[in-house]
Amino acid sequence: MPPHLAGREGEIKEFRELLKQDPILRNLILTGLRGVGKTVLLDTLRPVAIQEQWGWVGTDLSESASITEDRIAIRILTDLSVYTSDLTIAAKTRQIAGFHREDQPAREALTHQVILRIFNETPGLIADKLKHVLELVWGAMQSHDQRGIVFAYDEAQNMADHAEKNEFPLSLLLDVFQSVQRKGMRFILVLTGLPTLFSKLVEARTYSERMFHVVFLDHLEAAASREAILVPIREAKCPFQPTDQAVGAIIKITGGYPYFIQFVCKEVYDIWLRVGNRSIPIAELLAKLDVDFFSARWAKATDRQRDLLRIVAQLPTCDAEFTGLEIVACSKQFLRKPFSSSHVNQMLGSLQDSGLVYKNRHGKYSFAVPLLGQFIKRQTEQDLTT
Ligand SMILES: Nc1ncnc2c1ncn2[C@@H]1O[C@H](COP(=O)(O)OP(=O)(O)OP(=O)(O)O)[C@@H](O)[C@H]1O
Ligand SMILES: [Mg+2]
Repeated sequence: MPPHLAGREGEIKEFRELLKQDPILRNLILTGLRGVGKTVLLDTLRPVAIQEQWGWVGTDLSESASITEDRIAIRILTDLSVYTSDLTIAAKTRQIAGFHREDQPAREALTHQVILRIFNETPGLIADKLKHVLELVWGAMQSHDQRGIVFAYDEAQNMADHAEKNEFPLSLLLDVFQSVQRKGMRFILVLTGLPTLFSKLVEARTYSERMFHVVFLDHLEAAASREAILVPIREAKCPFQPTDQAVGAIIKITGGYPYFIQFVCKEVYDIWLRVGNRSIPIAELLAKLDVDFFSARWAKATDRQRDLLRIVAQLPTCDAEFTGLEIVACSKQFLRKPFSSSHVNQMLGSLQDSGLVYKNRHGKYSFAVPLLGQFIKRQTEQDLTT
């Protein structure tokens, strides 16, 4: 967690509004590029939910968790059991052996073991079993002063259906939540992940479009960036205070991206501690960022992919979105061997697989890593001067 979470008040408010729904019609997706602050915002929503009398369960969704329908169901039940072990249901009537044989009505706690047992004993498909457990939990919650349960999953872009293996874990998750929400149960999904997440959900189930409210986290605005830089320094009573000019320089280098703000502020602080000079060494900071953050990603690209990425970096809209056609046209201008349209499409596909670009729902592409265009331009300048 950052010492101060800057500029996400709007998103927190939107989450609070979603918690007021009854029945639940909209779930939440928090999406955005790497390092923009999805995970820390998700962590911040937890106490908000608890304050509003909601339970909170969930974890990171690794690829292995969503490989089969059974695995995703077990994942959900395991997360759920942490919350439900305080709840009880009427146990099956047991015959107690003794002097007077009598029926003893008993209650049992919804522990992990009990939940799994109920799941396994329920007939039907995995979705039916899961729905049955959720219904049971909803019933058991009614005597408690709780409004509902938030199911929060980070890195949800890892989820996928696997038609070739006849396994549809992603569709299962969507079907189950849509079904229990329709019955009026207040179980809400909060999924976070890279920008491919929403298209993946819509591809699996078109109704996802209506089922989710999508919040796209972007870089911090100037005022929030200033806060992210200055509040931690103030609260920790640091001996150095950056000047307005220094703050402006940090915002410019980082583009307001939270991960970069944190990285650059730490570097600046270390340098100031070491050398005592209070200026901002822009060139050195960019060089460090290039080595520590970008170069490993750049190294993975082939020579031809780098040619293509350099062309993209020339496009005036490279920081927003671009199309294959624009790349083809620009390559005619700059390359002796320009790219054909099919080659560009194929390469964009492989660059998407390696996490450097992503395709949005309108068929346009964007860099999947913040400020990648600027890095590529710096690399190109460096290559030209060496
Ligand atoms: N609003 C914010 N204010 C200040 N710092 C922030 C803010 N959001 C994120 N940070 C800092 O930026 C860094 C990246 O945040 P986080 O890990 O949440 O990003 P992410 O979007 O989950 O990244 P990834 O896609 O790699 O999982 C963290 O070190 C975090 O402390
Ligand atoms: Mg994260």
